[in-house]
Amino acid sequence: MTAEYQVHGDVAVITLNNPPVNGLGLDTRQGIVDGLARAEDDAAVKAVVITGAGKAFSGGADIKEFGTPKSLQDPNLHSVIRTVEHFGKPVVAAIHSVCMGGGLELALGCHYRVVAPGCSVALPEVKLGLLPGAGGTQRLPRVIGVEPALNMIATGEAVPSEMLASIPGQKLFDQLATSAQALAQEALAFARSVADVRPLPLVRHLPCKHPQGEAYFQFARNMVKGMAKHFPAPGKCVDAVEAATTSRDFEDGLMKERELFLNLMFTPESRSLRHLFFAERAASKIPDVPSDTPKREIRKVGVIGAGTMGGGISMNFLNAGIPVTILEMKQEALDRGIATIRKNYEAQVKKGKLKADKYEARMALLSTSLAYDDLKDCDLIIEAVFEDMGVKEQVFSRLDEVAKPGAILASNTSTLDVNQIASFTKRPQDVVGMHFFSPANVMKLLEVVRGEKTAKDVLATVMALAKKIKKTAVVSGVCDGFIGNRMIERYSQQAGFLLDEGATPEQVDRAIEKFGFPMGPFRMIDMAGNDIGWAIRKRRYVEQPDIKYSKTADLLCEMGRFGQKTSAGWYDYEAGKRDAKPSPVVLKMIEDYRQQQGITPRKISDDEIVQRLVYSLVNEGAKILEEGIASKSGDIDMVYLTGYGFPIWRGGPMHYAGEVGLFNVVQAMKRFARNPHDDAKAWAPSKLILDLAAAGKTFA
Ligand code: 3HC
Ligand code: NAI
Repeated sequence: MTAEYQVHGDVAVITLNNPPVNGLGLDTRQGIVDGLARAEDDAAVKAVVITGAGKAFSGGADIKEFGTPKSLQDPNLHSVIRTVEHFGKPVVAAIHSVCMGGGLELALGCHYRVVAPGCSVALPEVKLGLLPGAGGTQRLPRVIGVEPALNMIATGEAVPSEMLASIPGQKLFDQLATSAQALAQEALAFARSVADVRPLPLVRHLPCKHPQGEAYFQFARNMVKGMAKHFPAPGKCVDAVEAATTSRDFEDGLMKERELFLNLMFTPESRSLRHLFFAERAASKIPDVPSDTPKREIRKVGVIGAGTMGGGISMNFLNAGIPVTILEMKQEALDRGIATIRKNYEAQVKKGKLKADKYEARMALLSTSLAYDDLKDCDLIIEAVFEDMGVKEQVFSRLDEVAKPGAILASNTSTLDVNQIASFTKRPQDVVGMHFFSPANVMKLLEVVRGEKTAKDVLATVMALAKKIKKTAVVSGVCDGFIGNRMIERYSQQAGFLLDEGATPEQVDRAIEKFGFPMGPFRMIDMAGNDIGWAIRKRRYVEQPDIKYSKTADLLCEMGRFGQKTSAGWYDYEAGKRDAKPSPVVLKMIEDYRQQQGITPRKISDDEIVQRLVYSLVNEGAKILEEGIASKSGDIDMVYLTGYGFPIWRGGPMHYAGEVGLFNVVQAMKRFARNPHDDAKAWAPSKLILDLAAAGKTFA
């Protein structure tokens, strides 16, 4: 049973028991109503306490039920709250740990609320693209005031119970328990103390006004518009709270809230955010690595290479309080690397994001070395040296000699074969890829590359460590480019073909930026450096001669236009500035190339640009799934949302394809494959996408 019923003398206690967070799913809702019925029928029961078992009072409505018939099935949350309100004996909510969403709404429907200190209280529905749909927007303003309530509702942020209890005149909590441990006893005593009170107080009867209503809500609307331009929910939160102050009666306000809630539930933005919520949590789980797999202890980290990546990688561990030793070949390289780390921290101190003493404490955890022997007490060693198999071999052979038994040996390689790297050691089970993204101290994504022989406890350790250093870790199998870069190859390939056929770099960038990427492919590669892709393509021309590319990117590099670092790439740049200006030289180079290839340029629509770029990601993503490189489509979405700037409100490429409809995506792929200037082979739809489209399914 997901809600338990017990009687303690003259008080009945209904305990929500639906792990992990007592989500208010159908069974739990039914359990509450059944418990109330038993308490009603028992003349010896004078009052009821509702509380939660385990680590939450309640995390709110059961999000897994959304979109299923169960979410609407009676008793729905509204009818549960109504039953509580109309109950003939006092109902007291005993709140602890987490009280969110529908959980808080249920508590607000109770006659009284006793709360433990240290409880996180929130109406976080807006983070799922929704608004509180069971009276939260109507009741919370009545107990803590309109402005504090709207702040909580429109941001979704959690507020500690003590802080809410200290709002002057608040009616949210009737009593703050002396401690979390004392809550149960104090709630029982409170229930007994109000057993004879009649009529029972209801939040719905409290007044709800704002002295400068119209002006205040206009101000609030402007605020949220600026903050959340792609998301409809924050604006609707304002509408719902305003309705609490203007509606003729409470029921009208509730109706307005319900209408807004149901409309939001069917928006693509909310579907994307809900997908993201589950995908983020699912990414940390590896199907064949149970959550209780023992983990290795990581007390000290070694980093090899103090270049672009090594420095940023080190900062992650320093920030988490884990000592780091960086190893380099030469003192100058070490000095340069350390100076960059200092510069990054000093910029944070200057902006007020880091306290000076914390900066010093972090630097004190950092040591440097030119000798491998200094790494022998490290529990994890991450290699970030040049992207060259020969250099990786030198490093891993040496590490095999010095690292202590059980140390995890990780490579930050972005394209090389982790199985081959592991074979340079006699302990391939301890070798794993940890592919950070640049700048490594900022970007959330960490691709954890699982080699054929990587041990399960190594994976479990790295996934847990990722959480500690605040990264979103996604597991990838071994292939060229892993999940993210393998897909971006296809995207860049399409960007090149679009130029060949008549688009300009500016048009391509503008179209995809309008779709929601922060930067189009050409601005992005100008920032990263065109020479990087050039080196990779040169290798591909040898290894995979049948891949088709536009040659414009190579011609650009032959002109020495490597991007921002040379003040010239696909665009022109003023030295030291990042503003991209269209370059007549580049446009001429593209035109000449078209002529030489015999291509008559055509006008390409923004829609075609977006479809070709995004669907190229989707098809490669489907192949990655089919090959088992990624274990679930949500992992691919997480990679693109956290590492490549895919617009959050579209939920990632695989989710987005489902929104468009896989049938439509396949039709478009077939159309693109017929284009003689494109790569028909690359557009051949994966078997997985064909099967799913035929079955009317999505990747989820
Ligand atoms: N419904 C179903 N499952 C939920 C859930 C919910 N409301 N909230 C959390 N979970 C699940 C997670 O999916 C995860 O499951 P898993 O272990 O199978 O992956 C598990 O609970 C633990 O979640 P976290 O990893 O996030 O655990 P934390 O301890 O870090 O955080 C939390 C707990 C603060 C409750 C956090 O999970 C959270 O913020 N949850 C979302 C709360 C929320 O948005 N509530 C509003 C729901 S909508 C609503 O109530 C509508 C109503 O207004 C009508
Ligand atoms: P980098 O050239 O900036 O730094 C490499 C550093 O390694 C240099 O300081 C060099 O002196 C040092 N080094 C080389 N051989 C060494 C050895 N044998 N022992 C000790 N130190 C040695 O290179 P970057 O960009 O930091 O790349 C490092 C690795 O990270 C590469 O494998 C690369 O593919 C990968 N990577 C790079 C990303 C990027 O955006 N730059 C993103 C993700 C991964």
